[in-house]
Amino acid sequence: MPTTAIVNIGSLITNDQTLDAGLLGELRDAALVIENGRVAWVGSGAQVPATDRVIDAGGRTVLPGFVDSHAHMLFAGDRAAEFSARMSGQVYAAGGINTTVEATRAASSADLERNLVRLATEMKSSGITTFETKSGYGLSVEDEFRALEIARKHTTETTYLGAHVVPADYKNRGEAGIDAYVELVMGEMLAAAVKAGAKWIDVFCDRGAFDADQGREILEAGRMAGLAPRIHANQLQPGQGVQLAVELDCASADHCTHLSATDIEALAASNTVATLLPGAEFSTRSPYPDARQLWSAGATVAIATDCNPGSSYTTSMPFCIAVAVRDMYFTPEQAIWSATLGGAKALRRADIGHLSVGARADLIQLDAPSAIHLAYRPGVNLIHSTHLAEDFS
Ligand code: NIG
Ligand code: FE
Repeated sequence: MPTTAIVNIGSLITNDQTLDAGLLGELRDAALVIENGRVAWVGSGAQVPATDRVIDAGGRTVLPGFVDSHAHMLFAGDRAAEFSARMSGQVYAAGGINTTVEATRAASSADLERNLVRLATEMKSSGITTFETKSGYGLSVEDEFRALEIARKHTTETTYLGAHVVPADYKNRGEAGIDAYVELVMGEMLAAAVKAGAKWIDVFCDRGAFDADQGREILEAGRMAGLAPRIHANQLQPGQGVQLAVELDCASADHCTHLSATDIEALAASNTVATLLPGAEFSTRSPYPDARQLWSAGATVAIATDCNPGSSYTTSMPFCIAVAVRDMYFTPEQAIWSATLGGAKALRRADIGHLSVGARADLIQLDAPSAIHLAYRPGVNLIHSTHLAEDFS
C-alpha cells in the first residue's frame, strides 16, 4: 500500500484532545501521513517521514471531513411555494410532509436514486464525507423498503423513519387509522426496514406527528428488531421528546429547538447527543436554541444539515456552521467541533470526525488560513477539496 504525506498544512485541525492544543487540537505548520486509508502519523511539517506520495497543501487549513448525522435525502419534488408562503408569514407545520410523500410515491426508483446522488454530490463539495439519511417520505411498506434499499447503496448510516407523520390515507380514517398506522410501523414496515438493512430507527415526536407514548412503543419495537434509536425531538414545541431520547439511550435527540432546564440537565447527564439543525430554524423562521446553555451544562452537541425539501433544503455544512455561530451562539471552534466530532458521536462512530492516528483519512482542504473562516466568510465557498479515505489507497 502506498503511503501519502500531506505537507505544508498551515493549520491542521485534529480534534485530538490528547494534544493539549485547544478544543480542536490545532497544529500549525503541520503534516499528516496516511497509510491504508488511515491516519498513520501527525506532527510538525519539519519532521514528516518519507512517503511514496506527497500532497502539498499550500499553507491551507486541513480539517476532518464534516459528519452530517441528520438528513432526509430520499424524496421527490420540492416545496418552494411552501417556503415562499412561510417567508410571508405562514407557520411551518408537520402536515407539509404529506405533499412530499405523494411526490415520492409517484417517483420511479431511478429518479429517487438520482436525487439522492445529486444531494450527496453537493454534500461532498461542501466538505461532508459521511452522511446519514432517513427514509420517511414513503410511509408504506413498499415505499419505505425501496427508499432504504436505495439509501444503503450510498451510506452505511441509514435510518428507518416510518414514524415521520401518519400518512393521509390512514389519517383520513380518524383514531382507528392512526392506531392501525402505528401498528404497521412497528410490524410489517419495521420488518421490511430491517430487511433493507436499516441501521437506525427514528420517530418525529412532536405536534402533528407522534406523541411520546407512541414514540416509545415504536423505538422499543425497533430496538427489539436490532435497530438503534434516535429521535426528532422538541422541534415545534416543548415536549417529552428529549426526555424520551435520554430514557431510551438514543444516540441523539435532534432539533432541540425548545429546551427546558430539565431537558438540558438530562442531556448533559446522558450519552445522548443534542443535534442542532440551524438550517431548520433558518428556513422555518423559528427561534434558535441557545447552544451556550448546552455547552456550559456539559452536553455533547452536534450540528447537521437536516437536508430535506420542507424545513431545511440545504446540503451546505459551512452554511450551517455560520448560522450556528451567528444565531445559536456557538463559538467558531465549538461549531467546527460539532460538525465533525460531534456528528461522529451522534452516529456513535469512533473512526471519523477526527484526524488522530488510526482515524479514517476523510478530510477537507480549506482555502483559508484558519477554520474560523468557515463562519467568518459566510456564503463563500472555501472548500478546496474533499478527500475520502479510499482516495488514498
Ligand atoms: O427534520 N421535522 C420533521 N422532519 C423534517 C421536516 C420534514 C418536512 O417538512 O418535509 C425535519 O425538519
Ligand atoms: Fe429531520
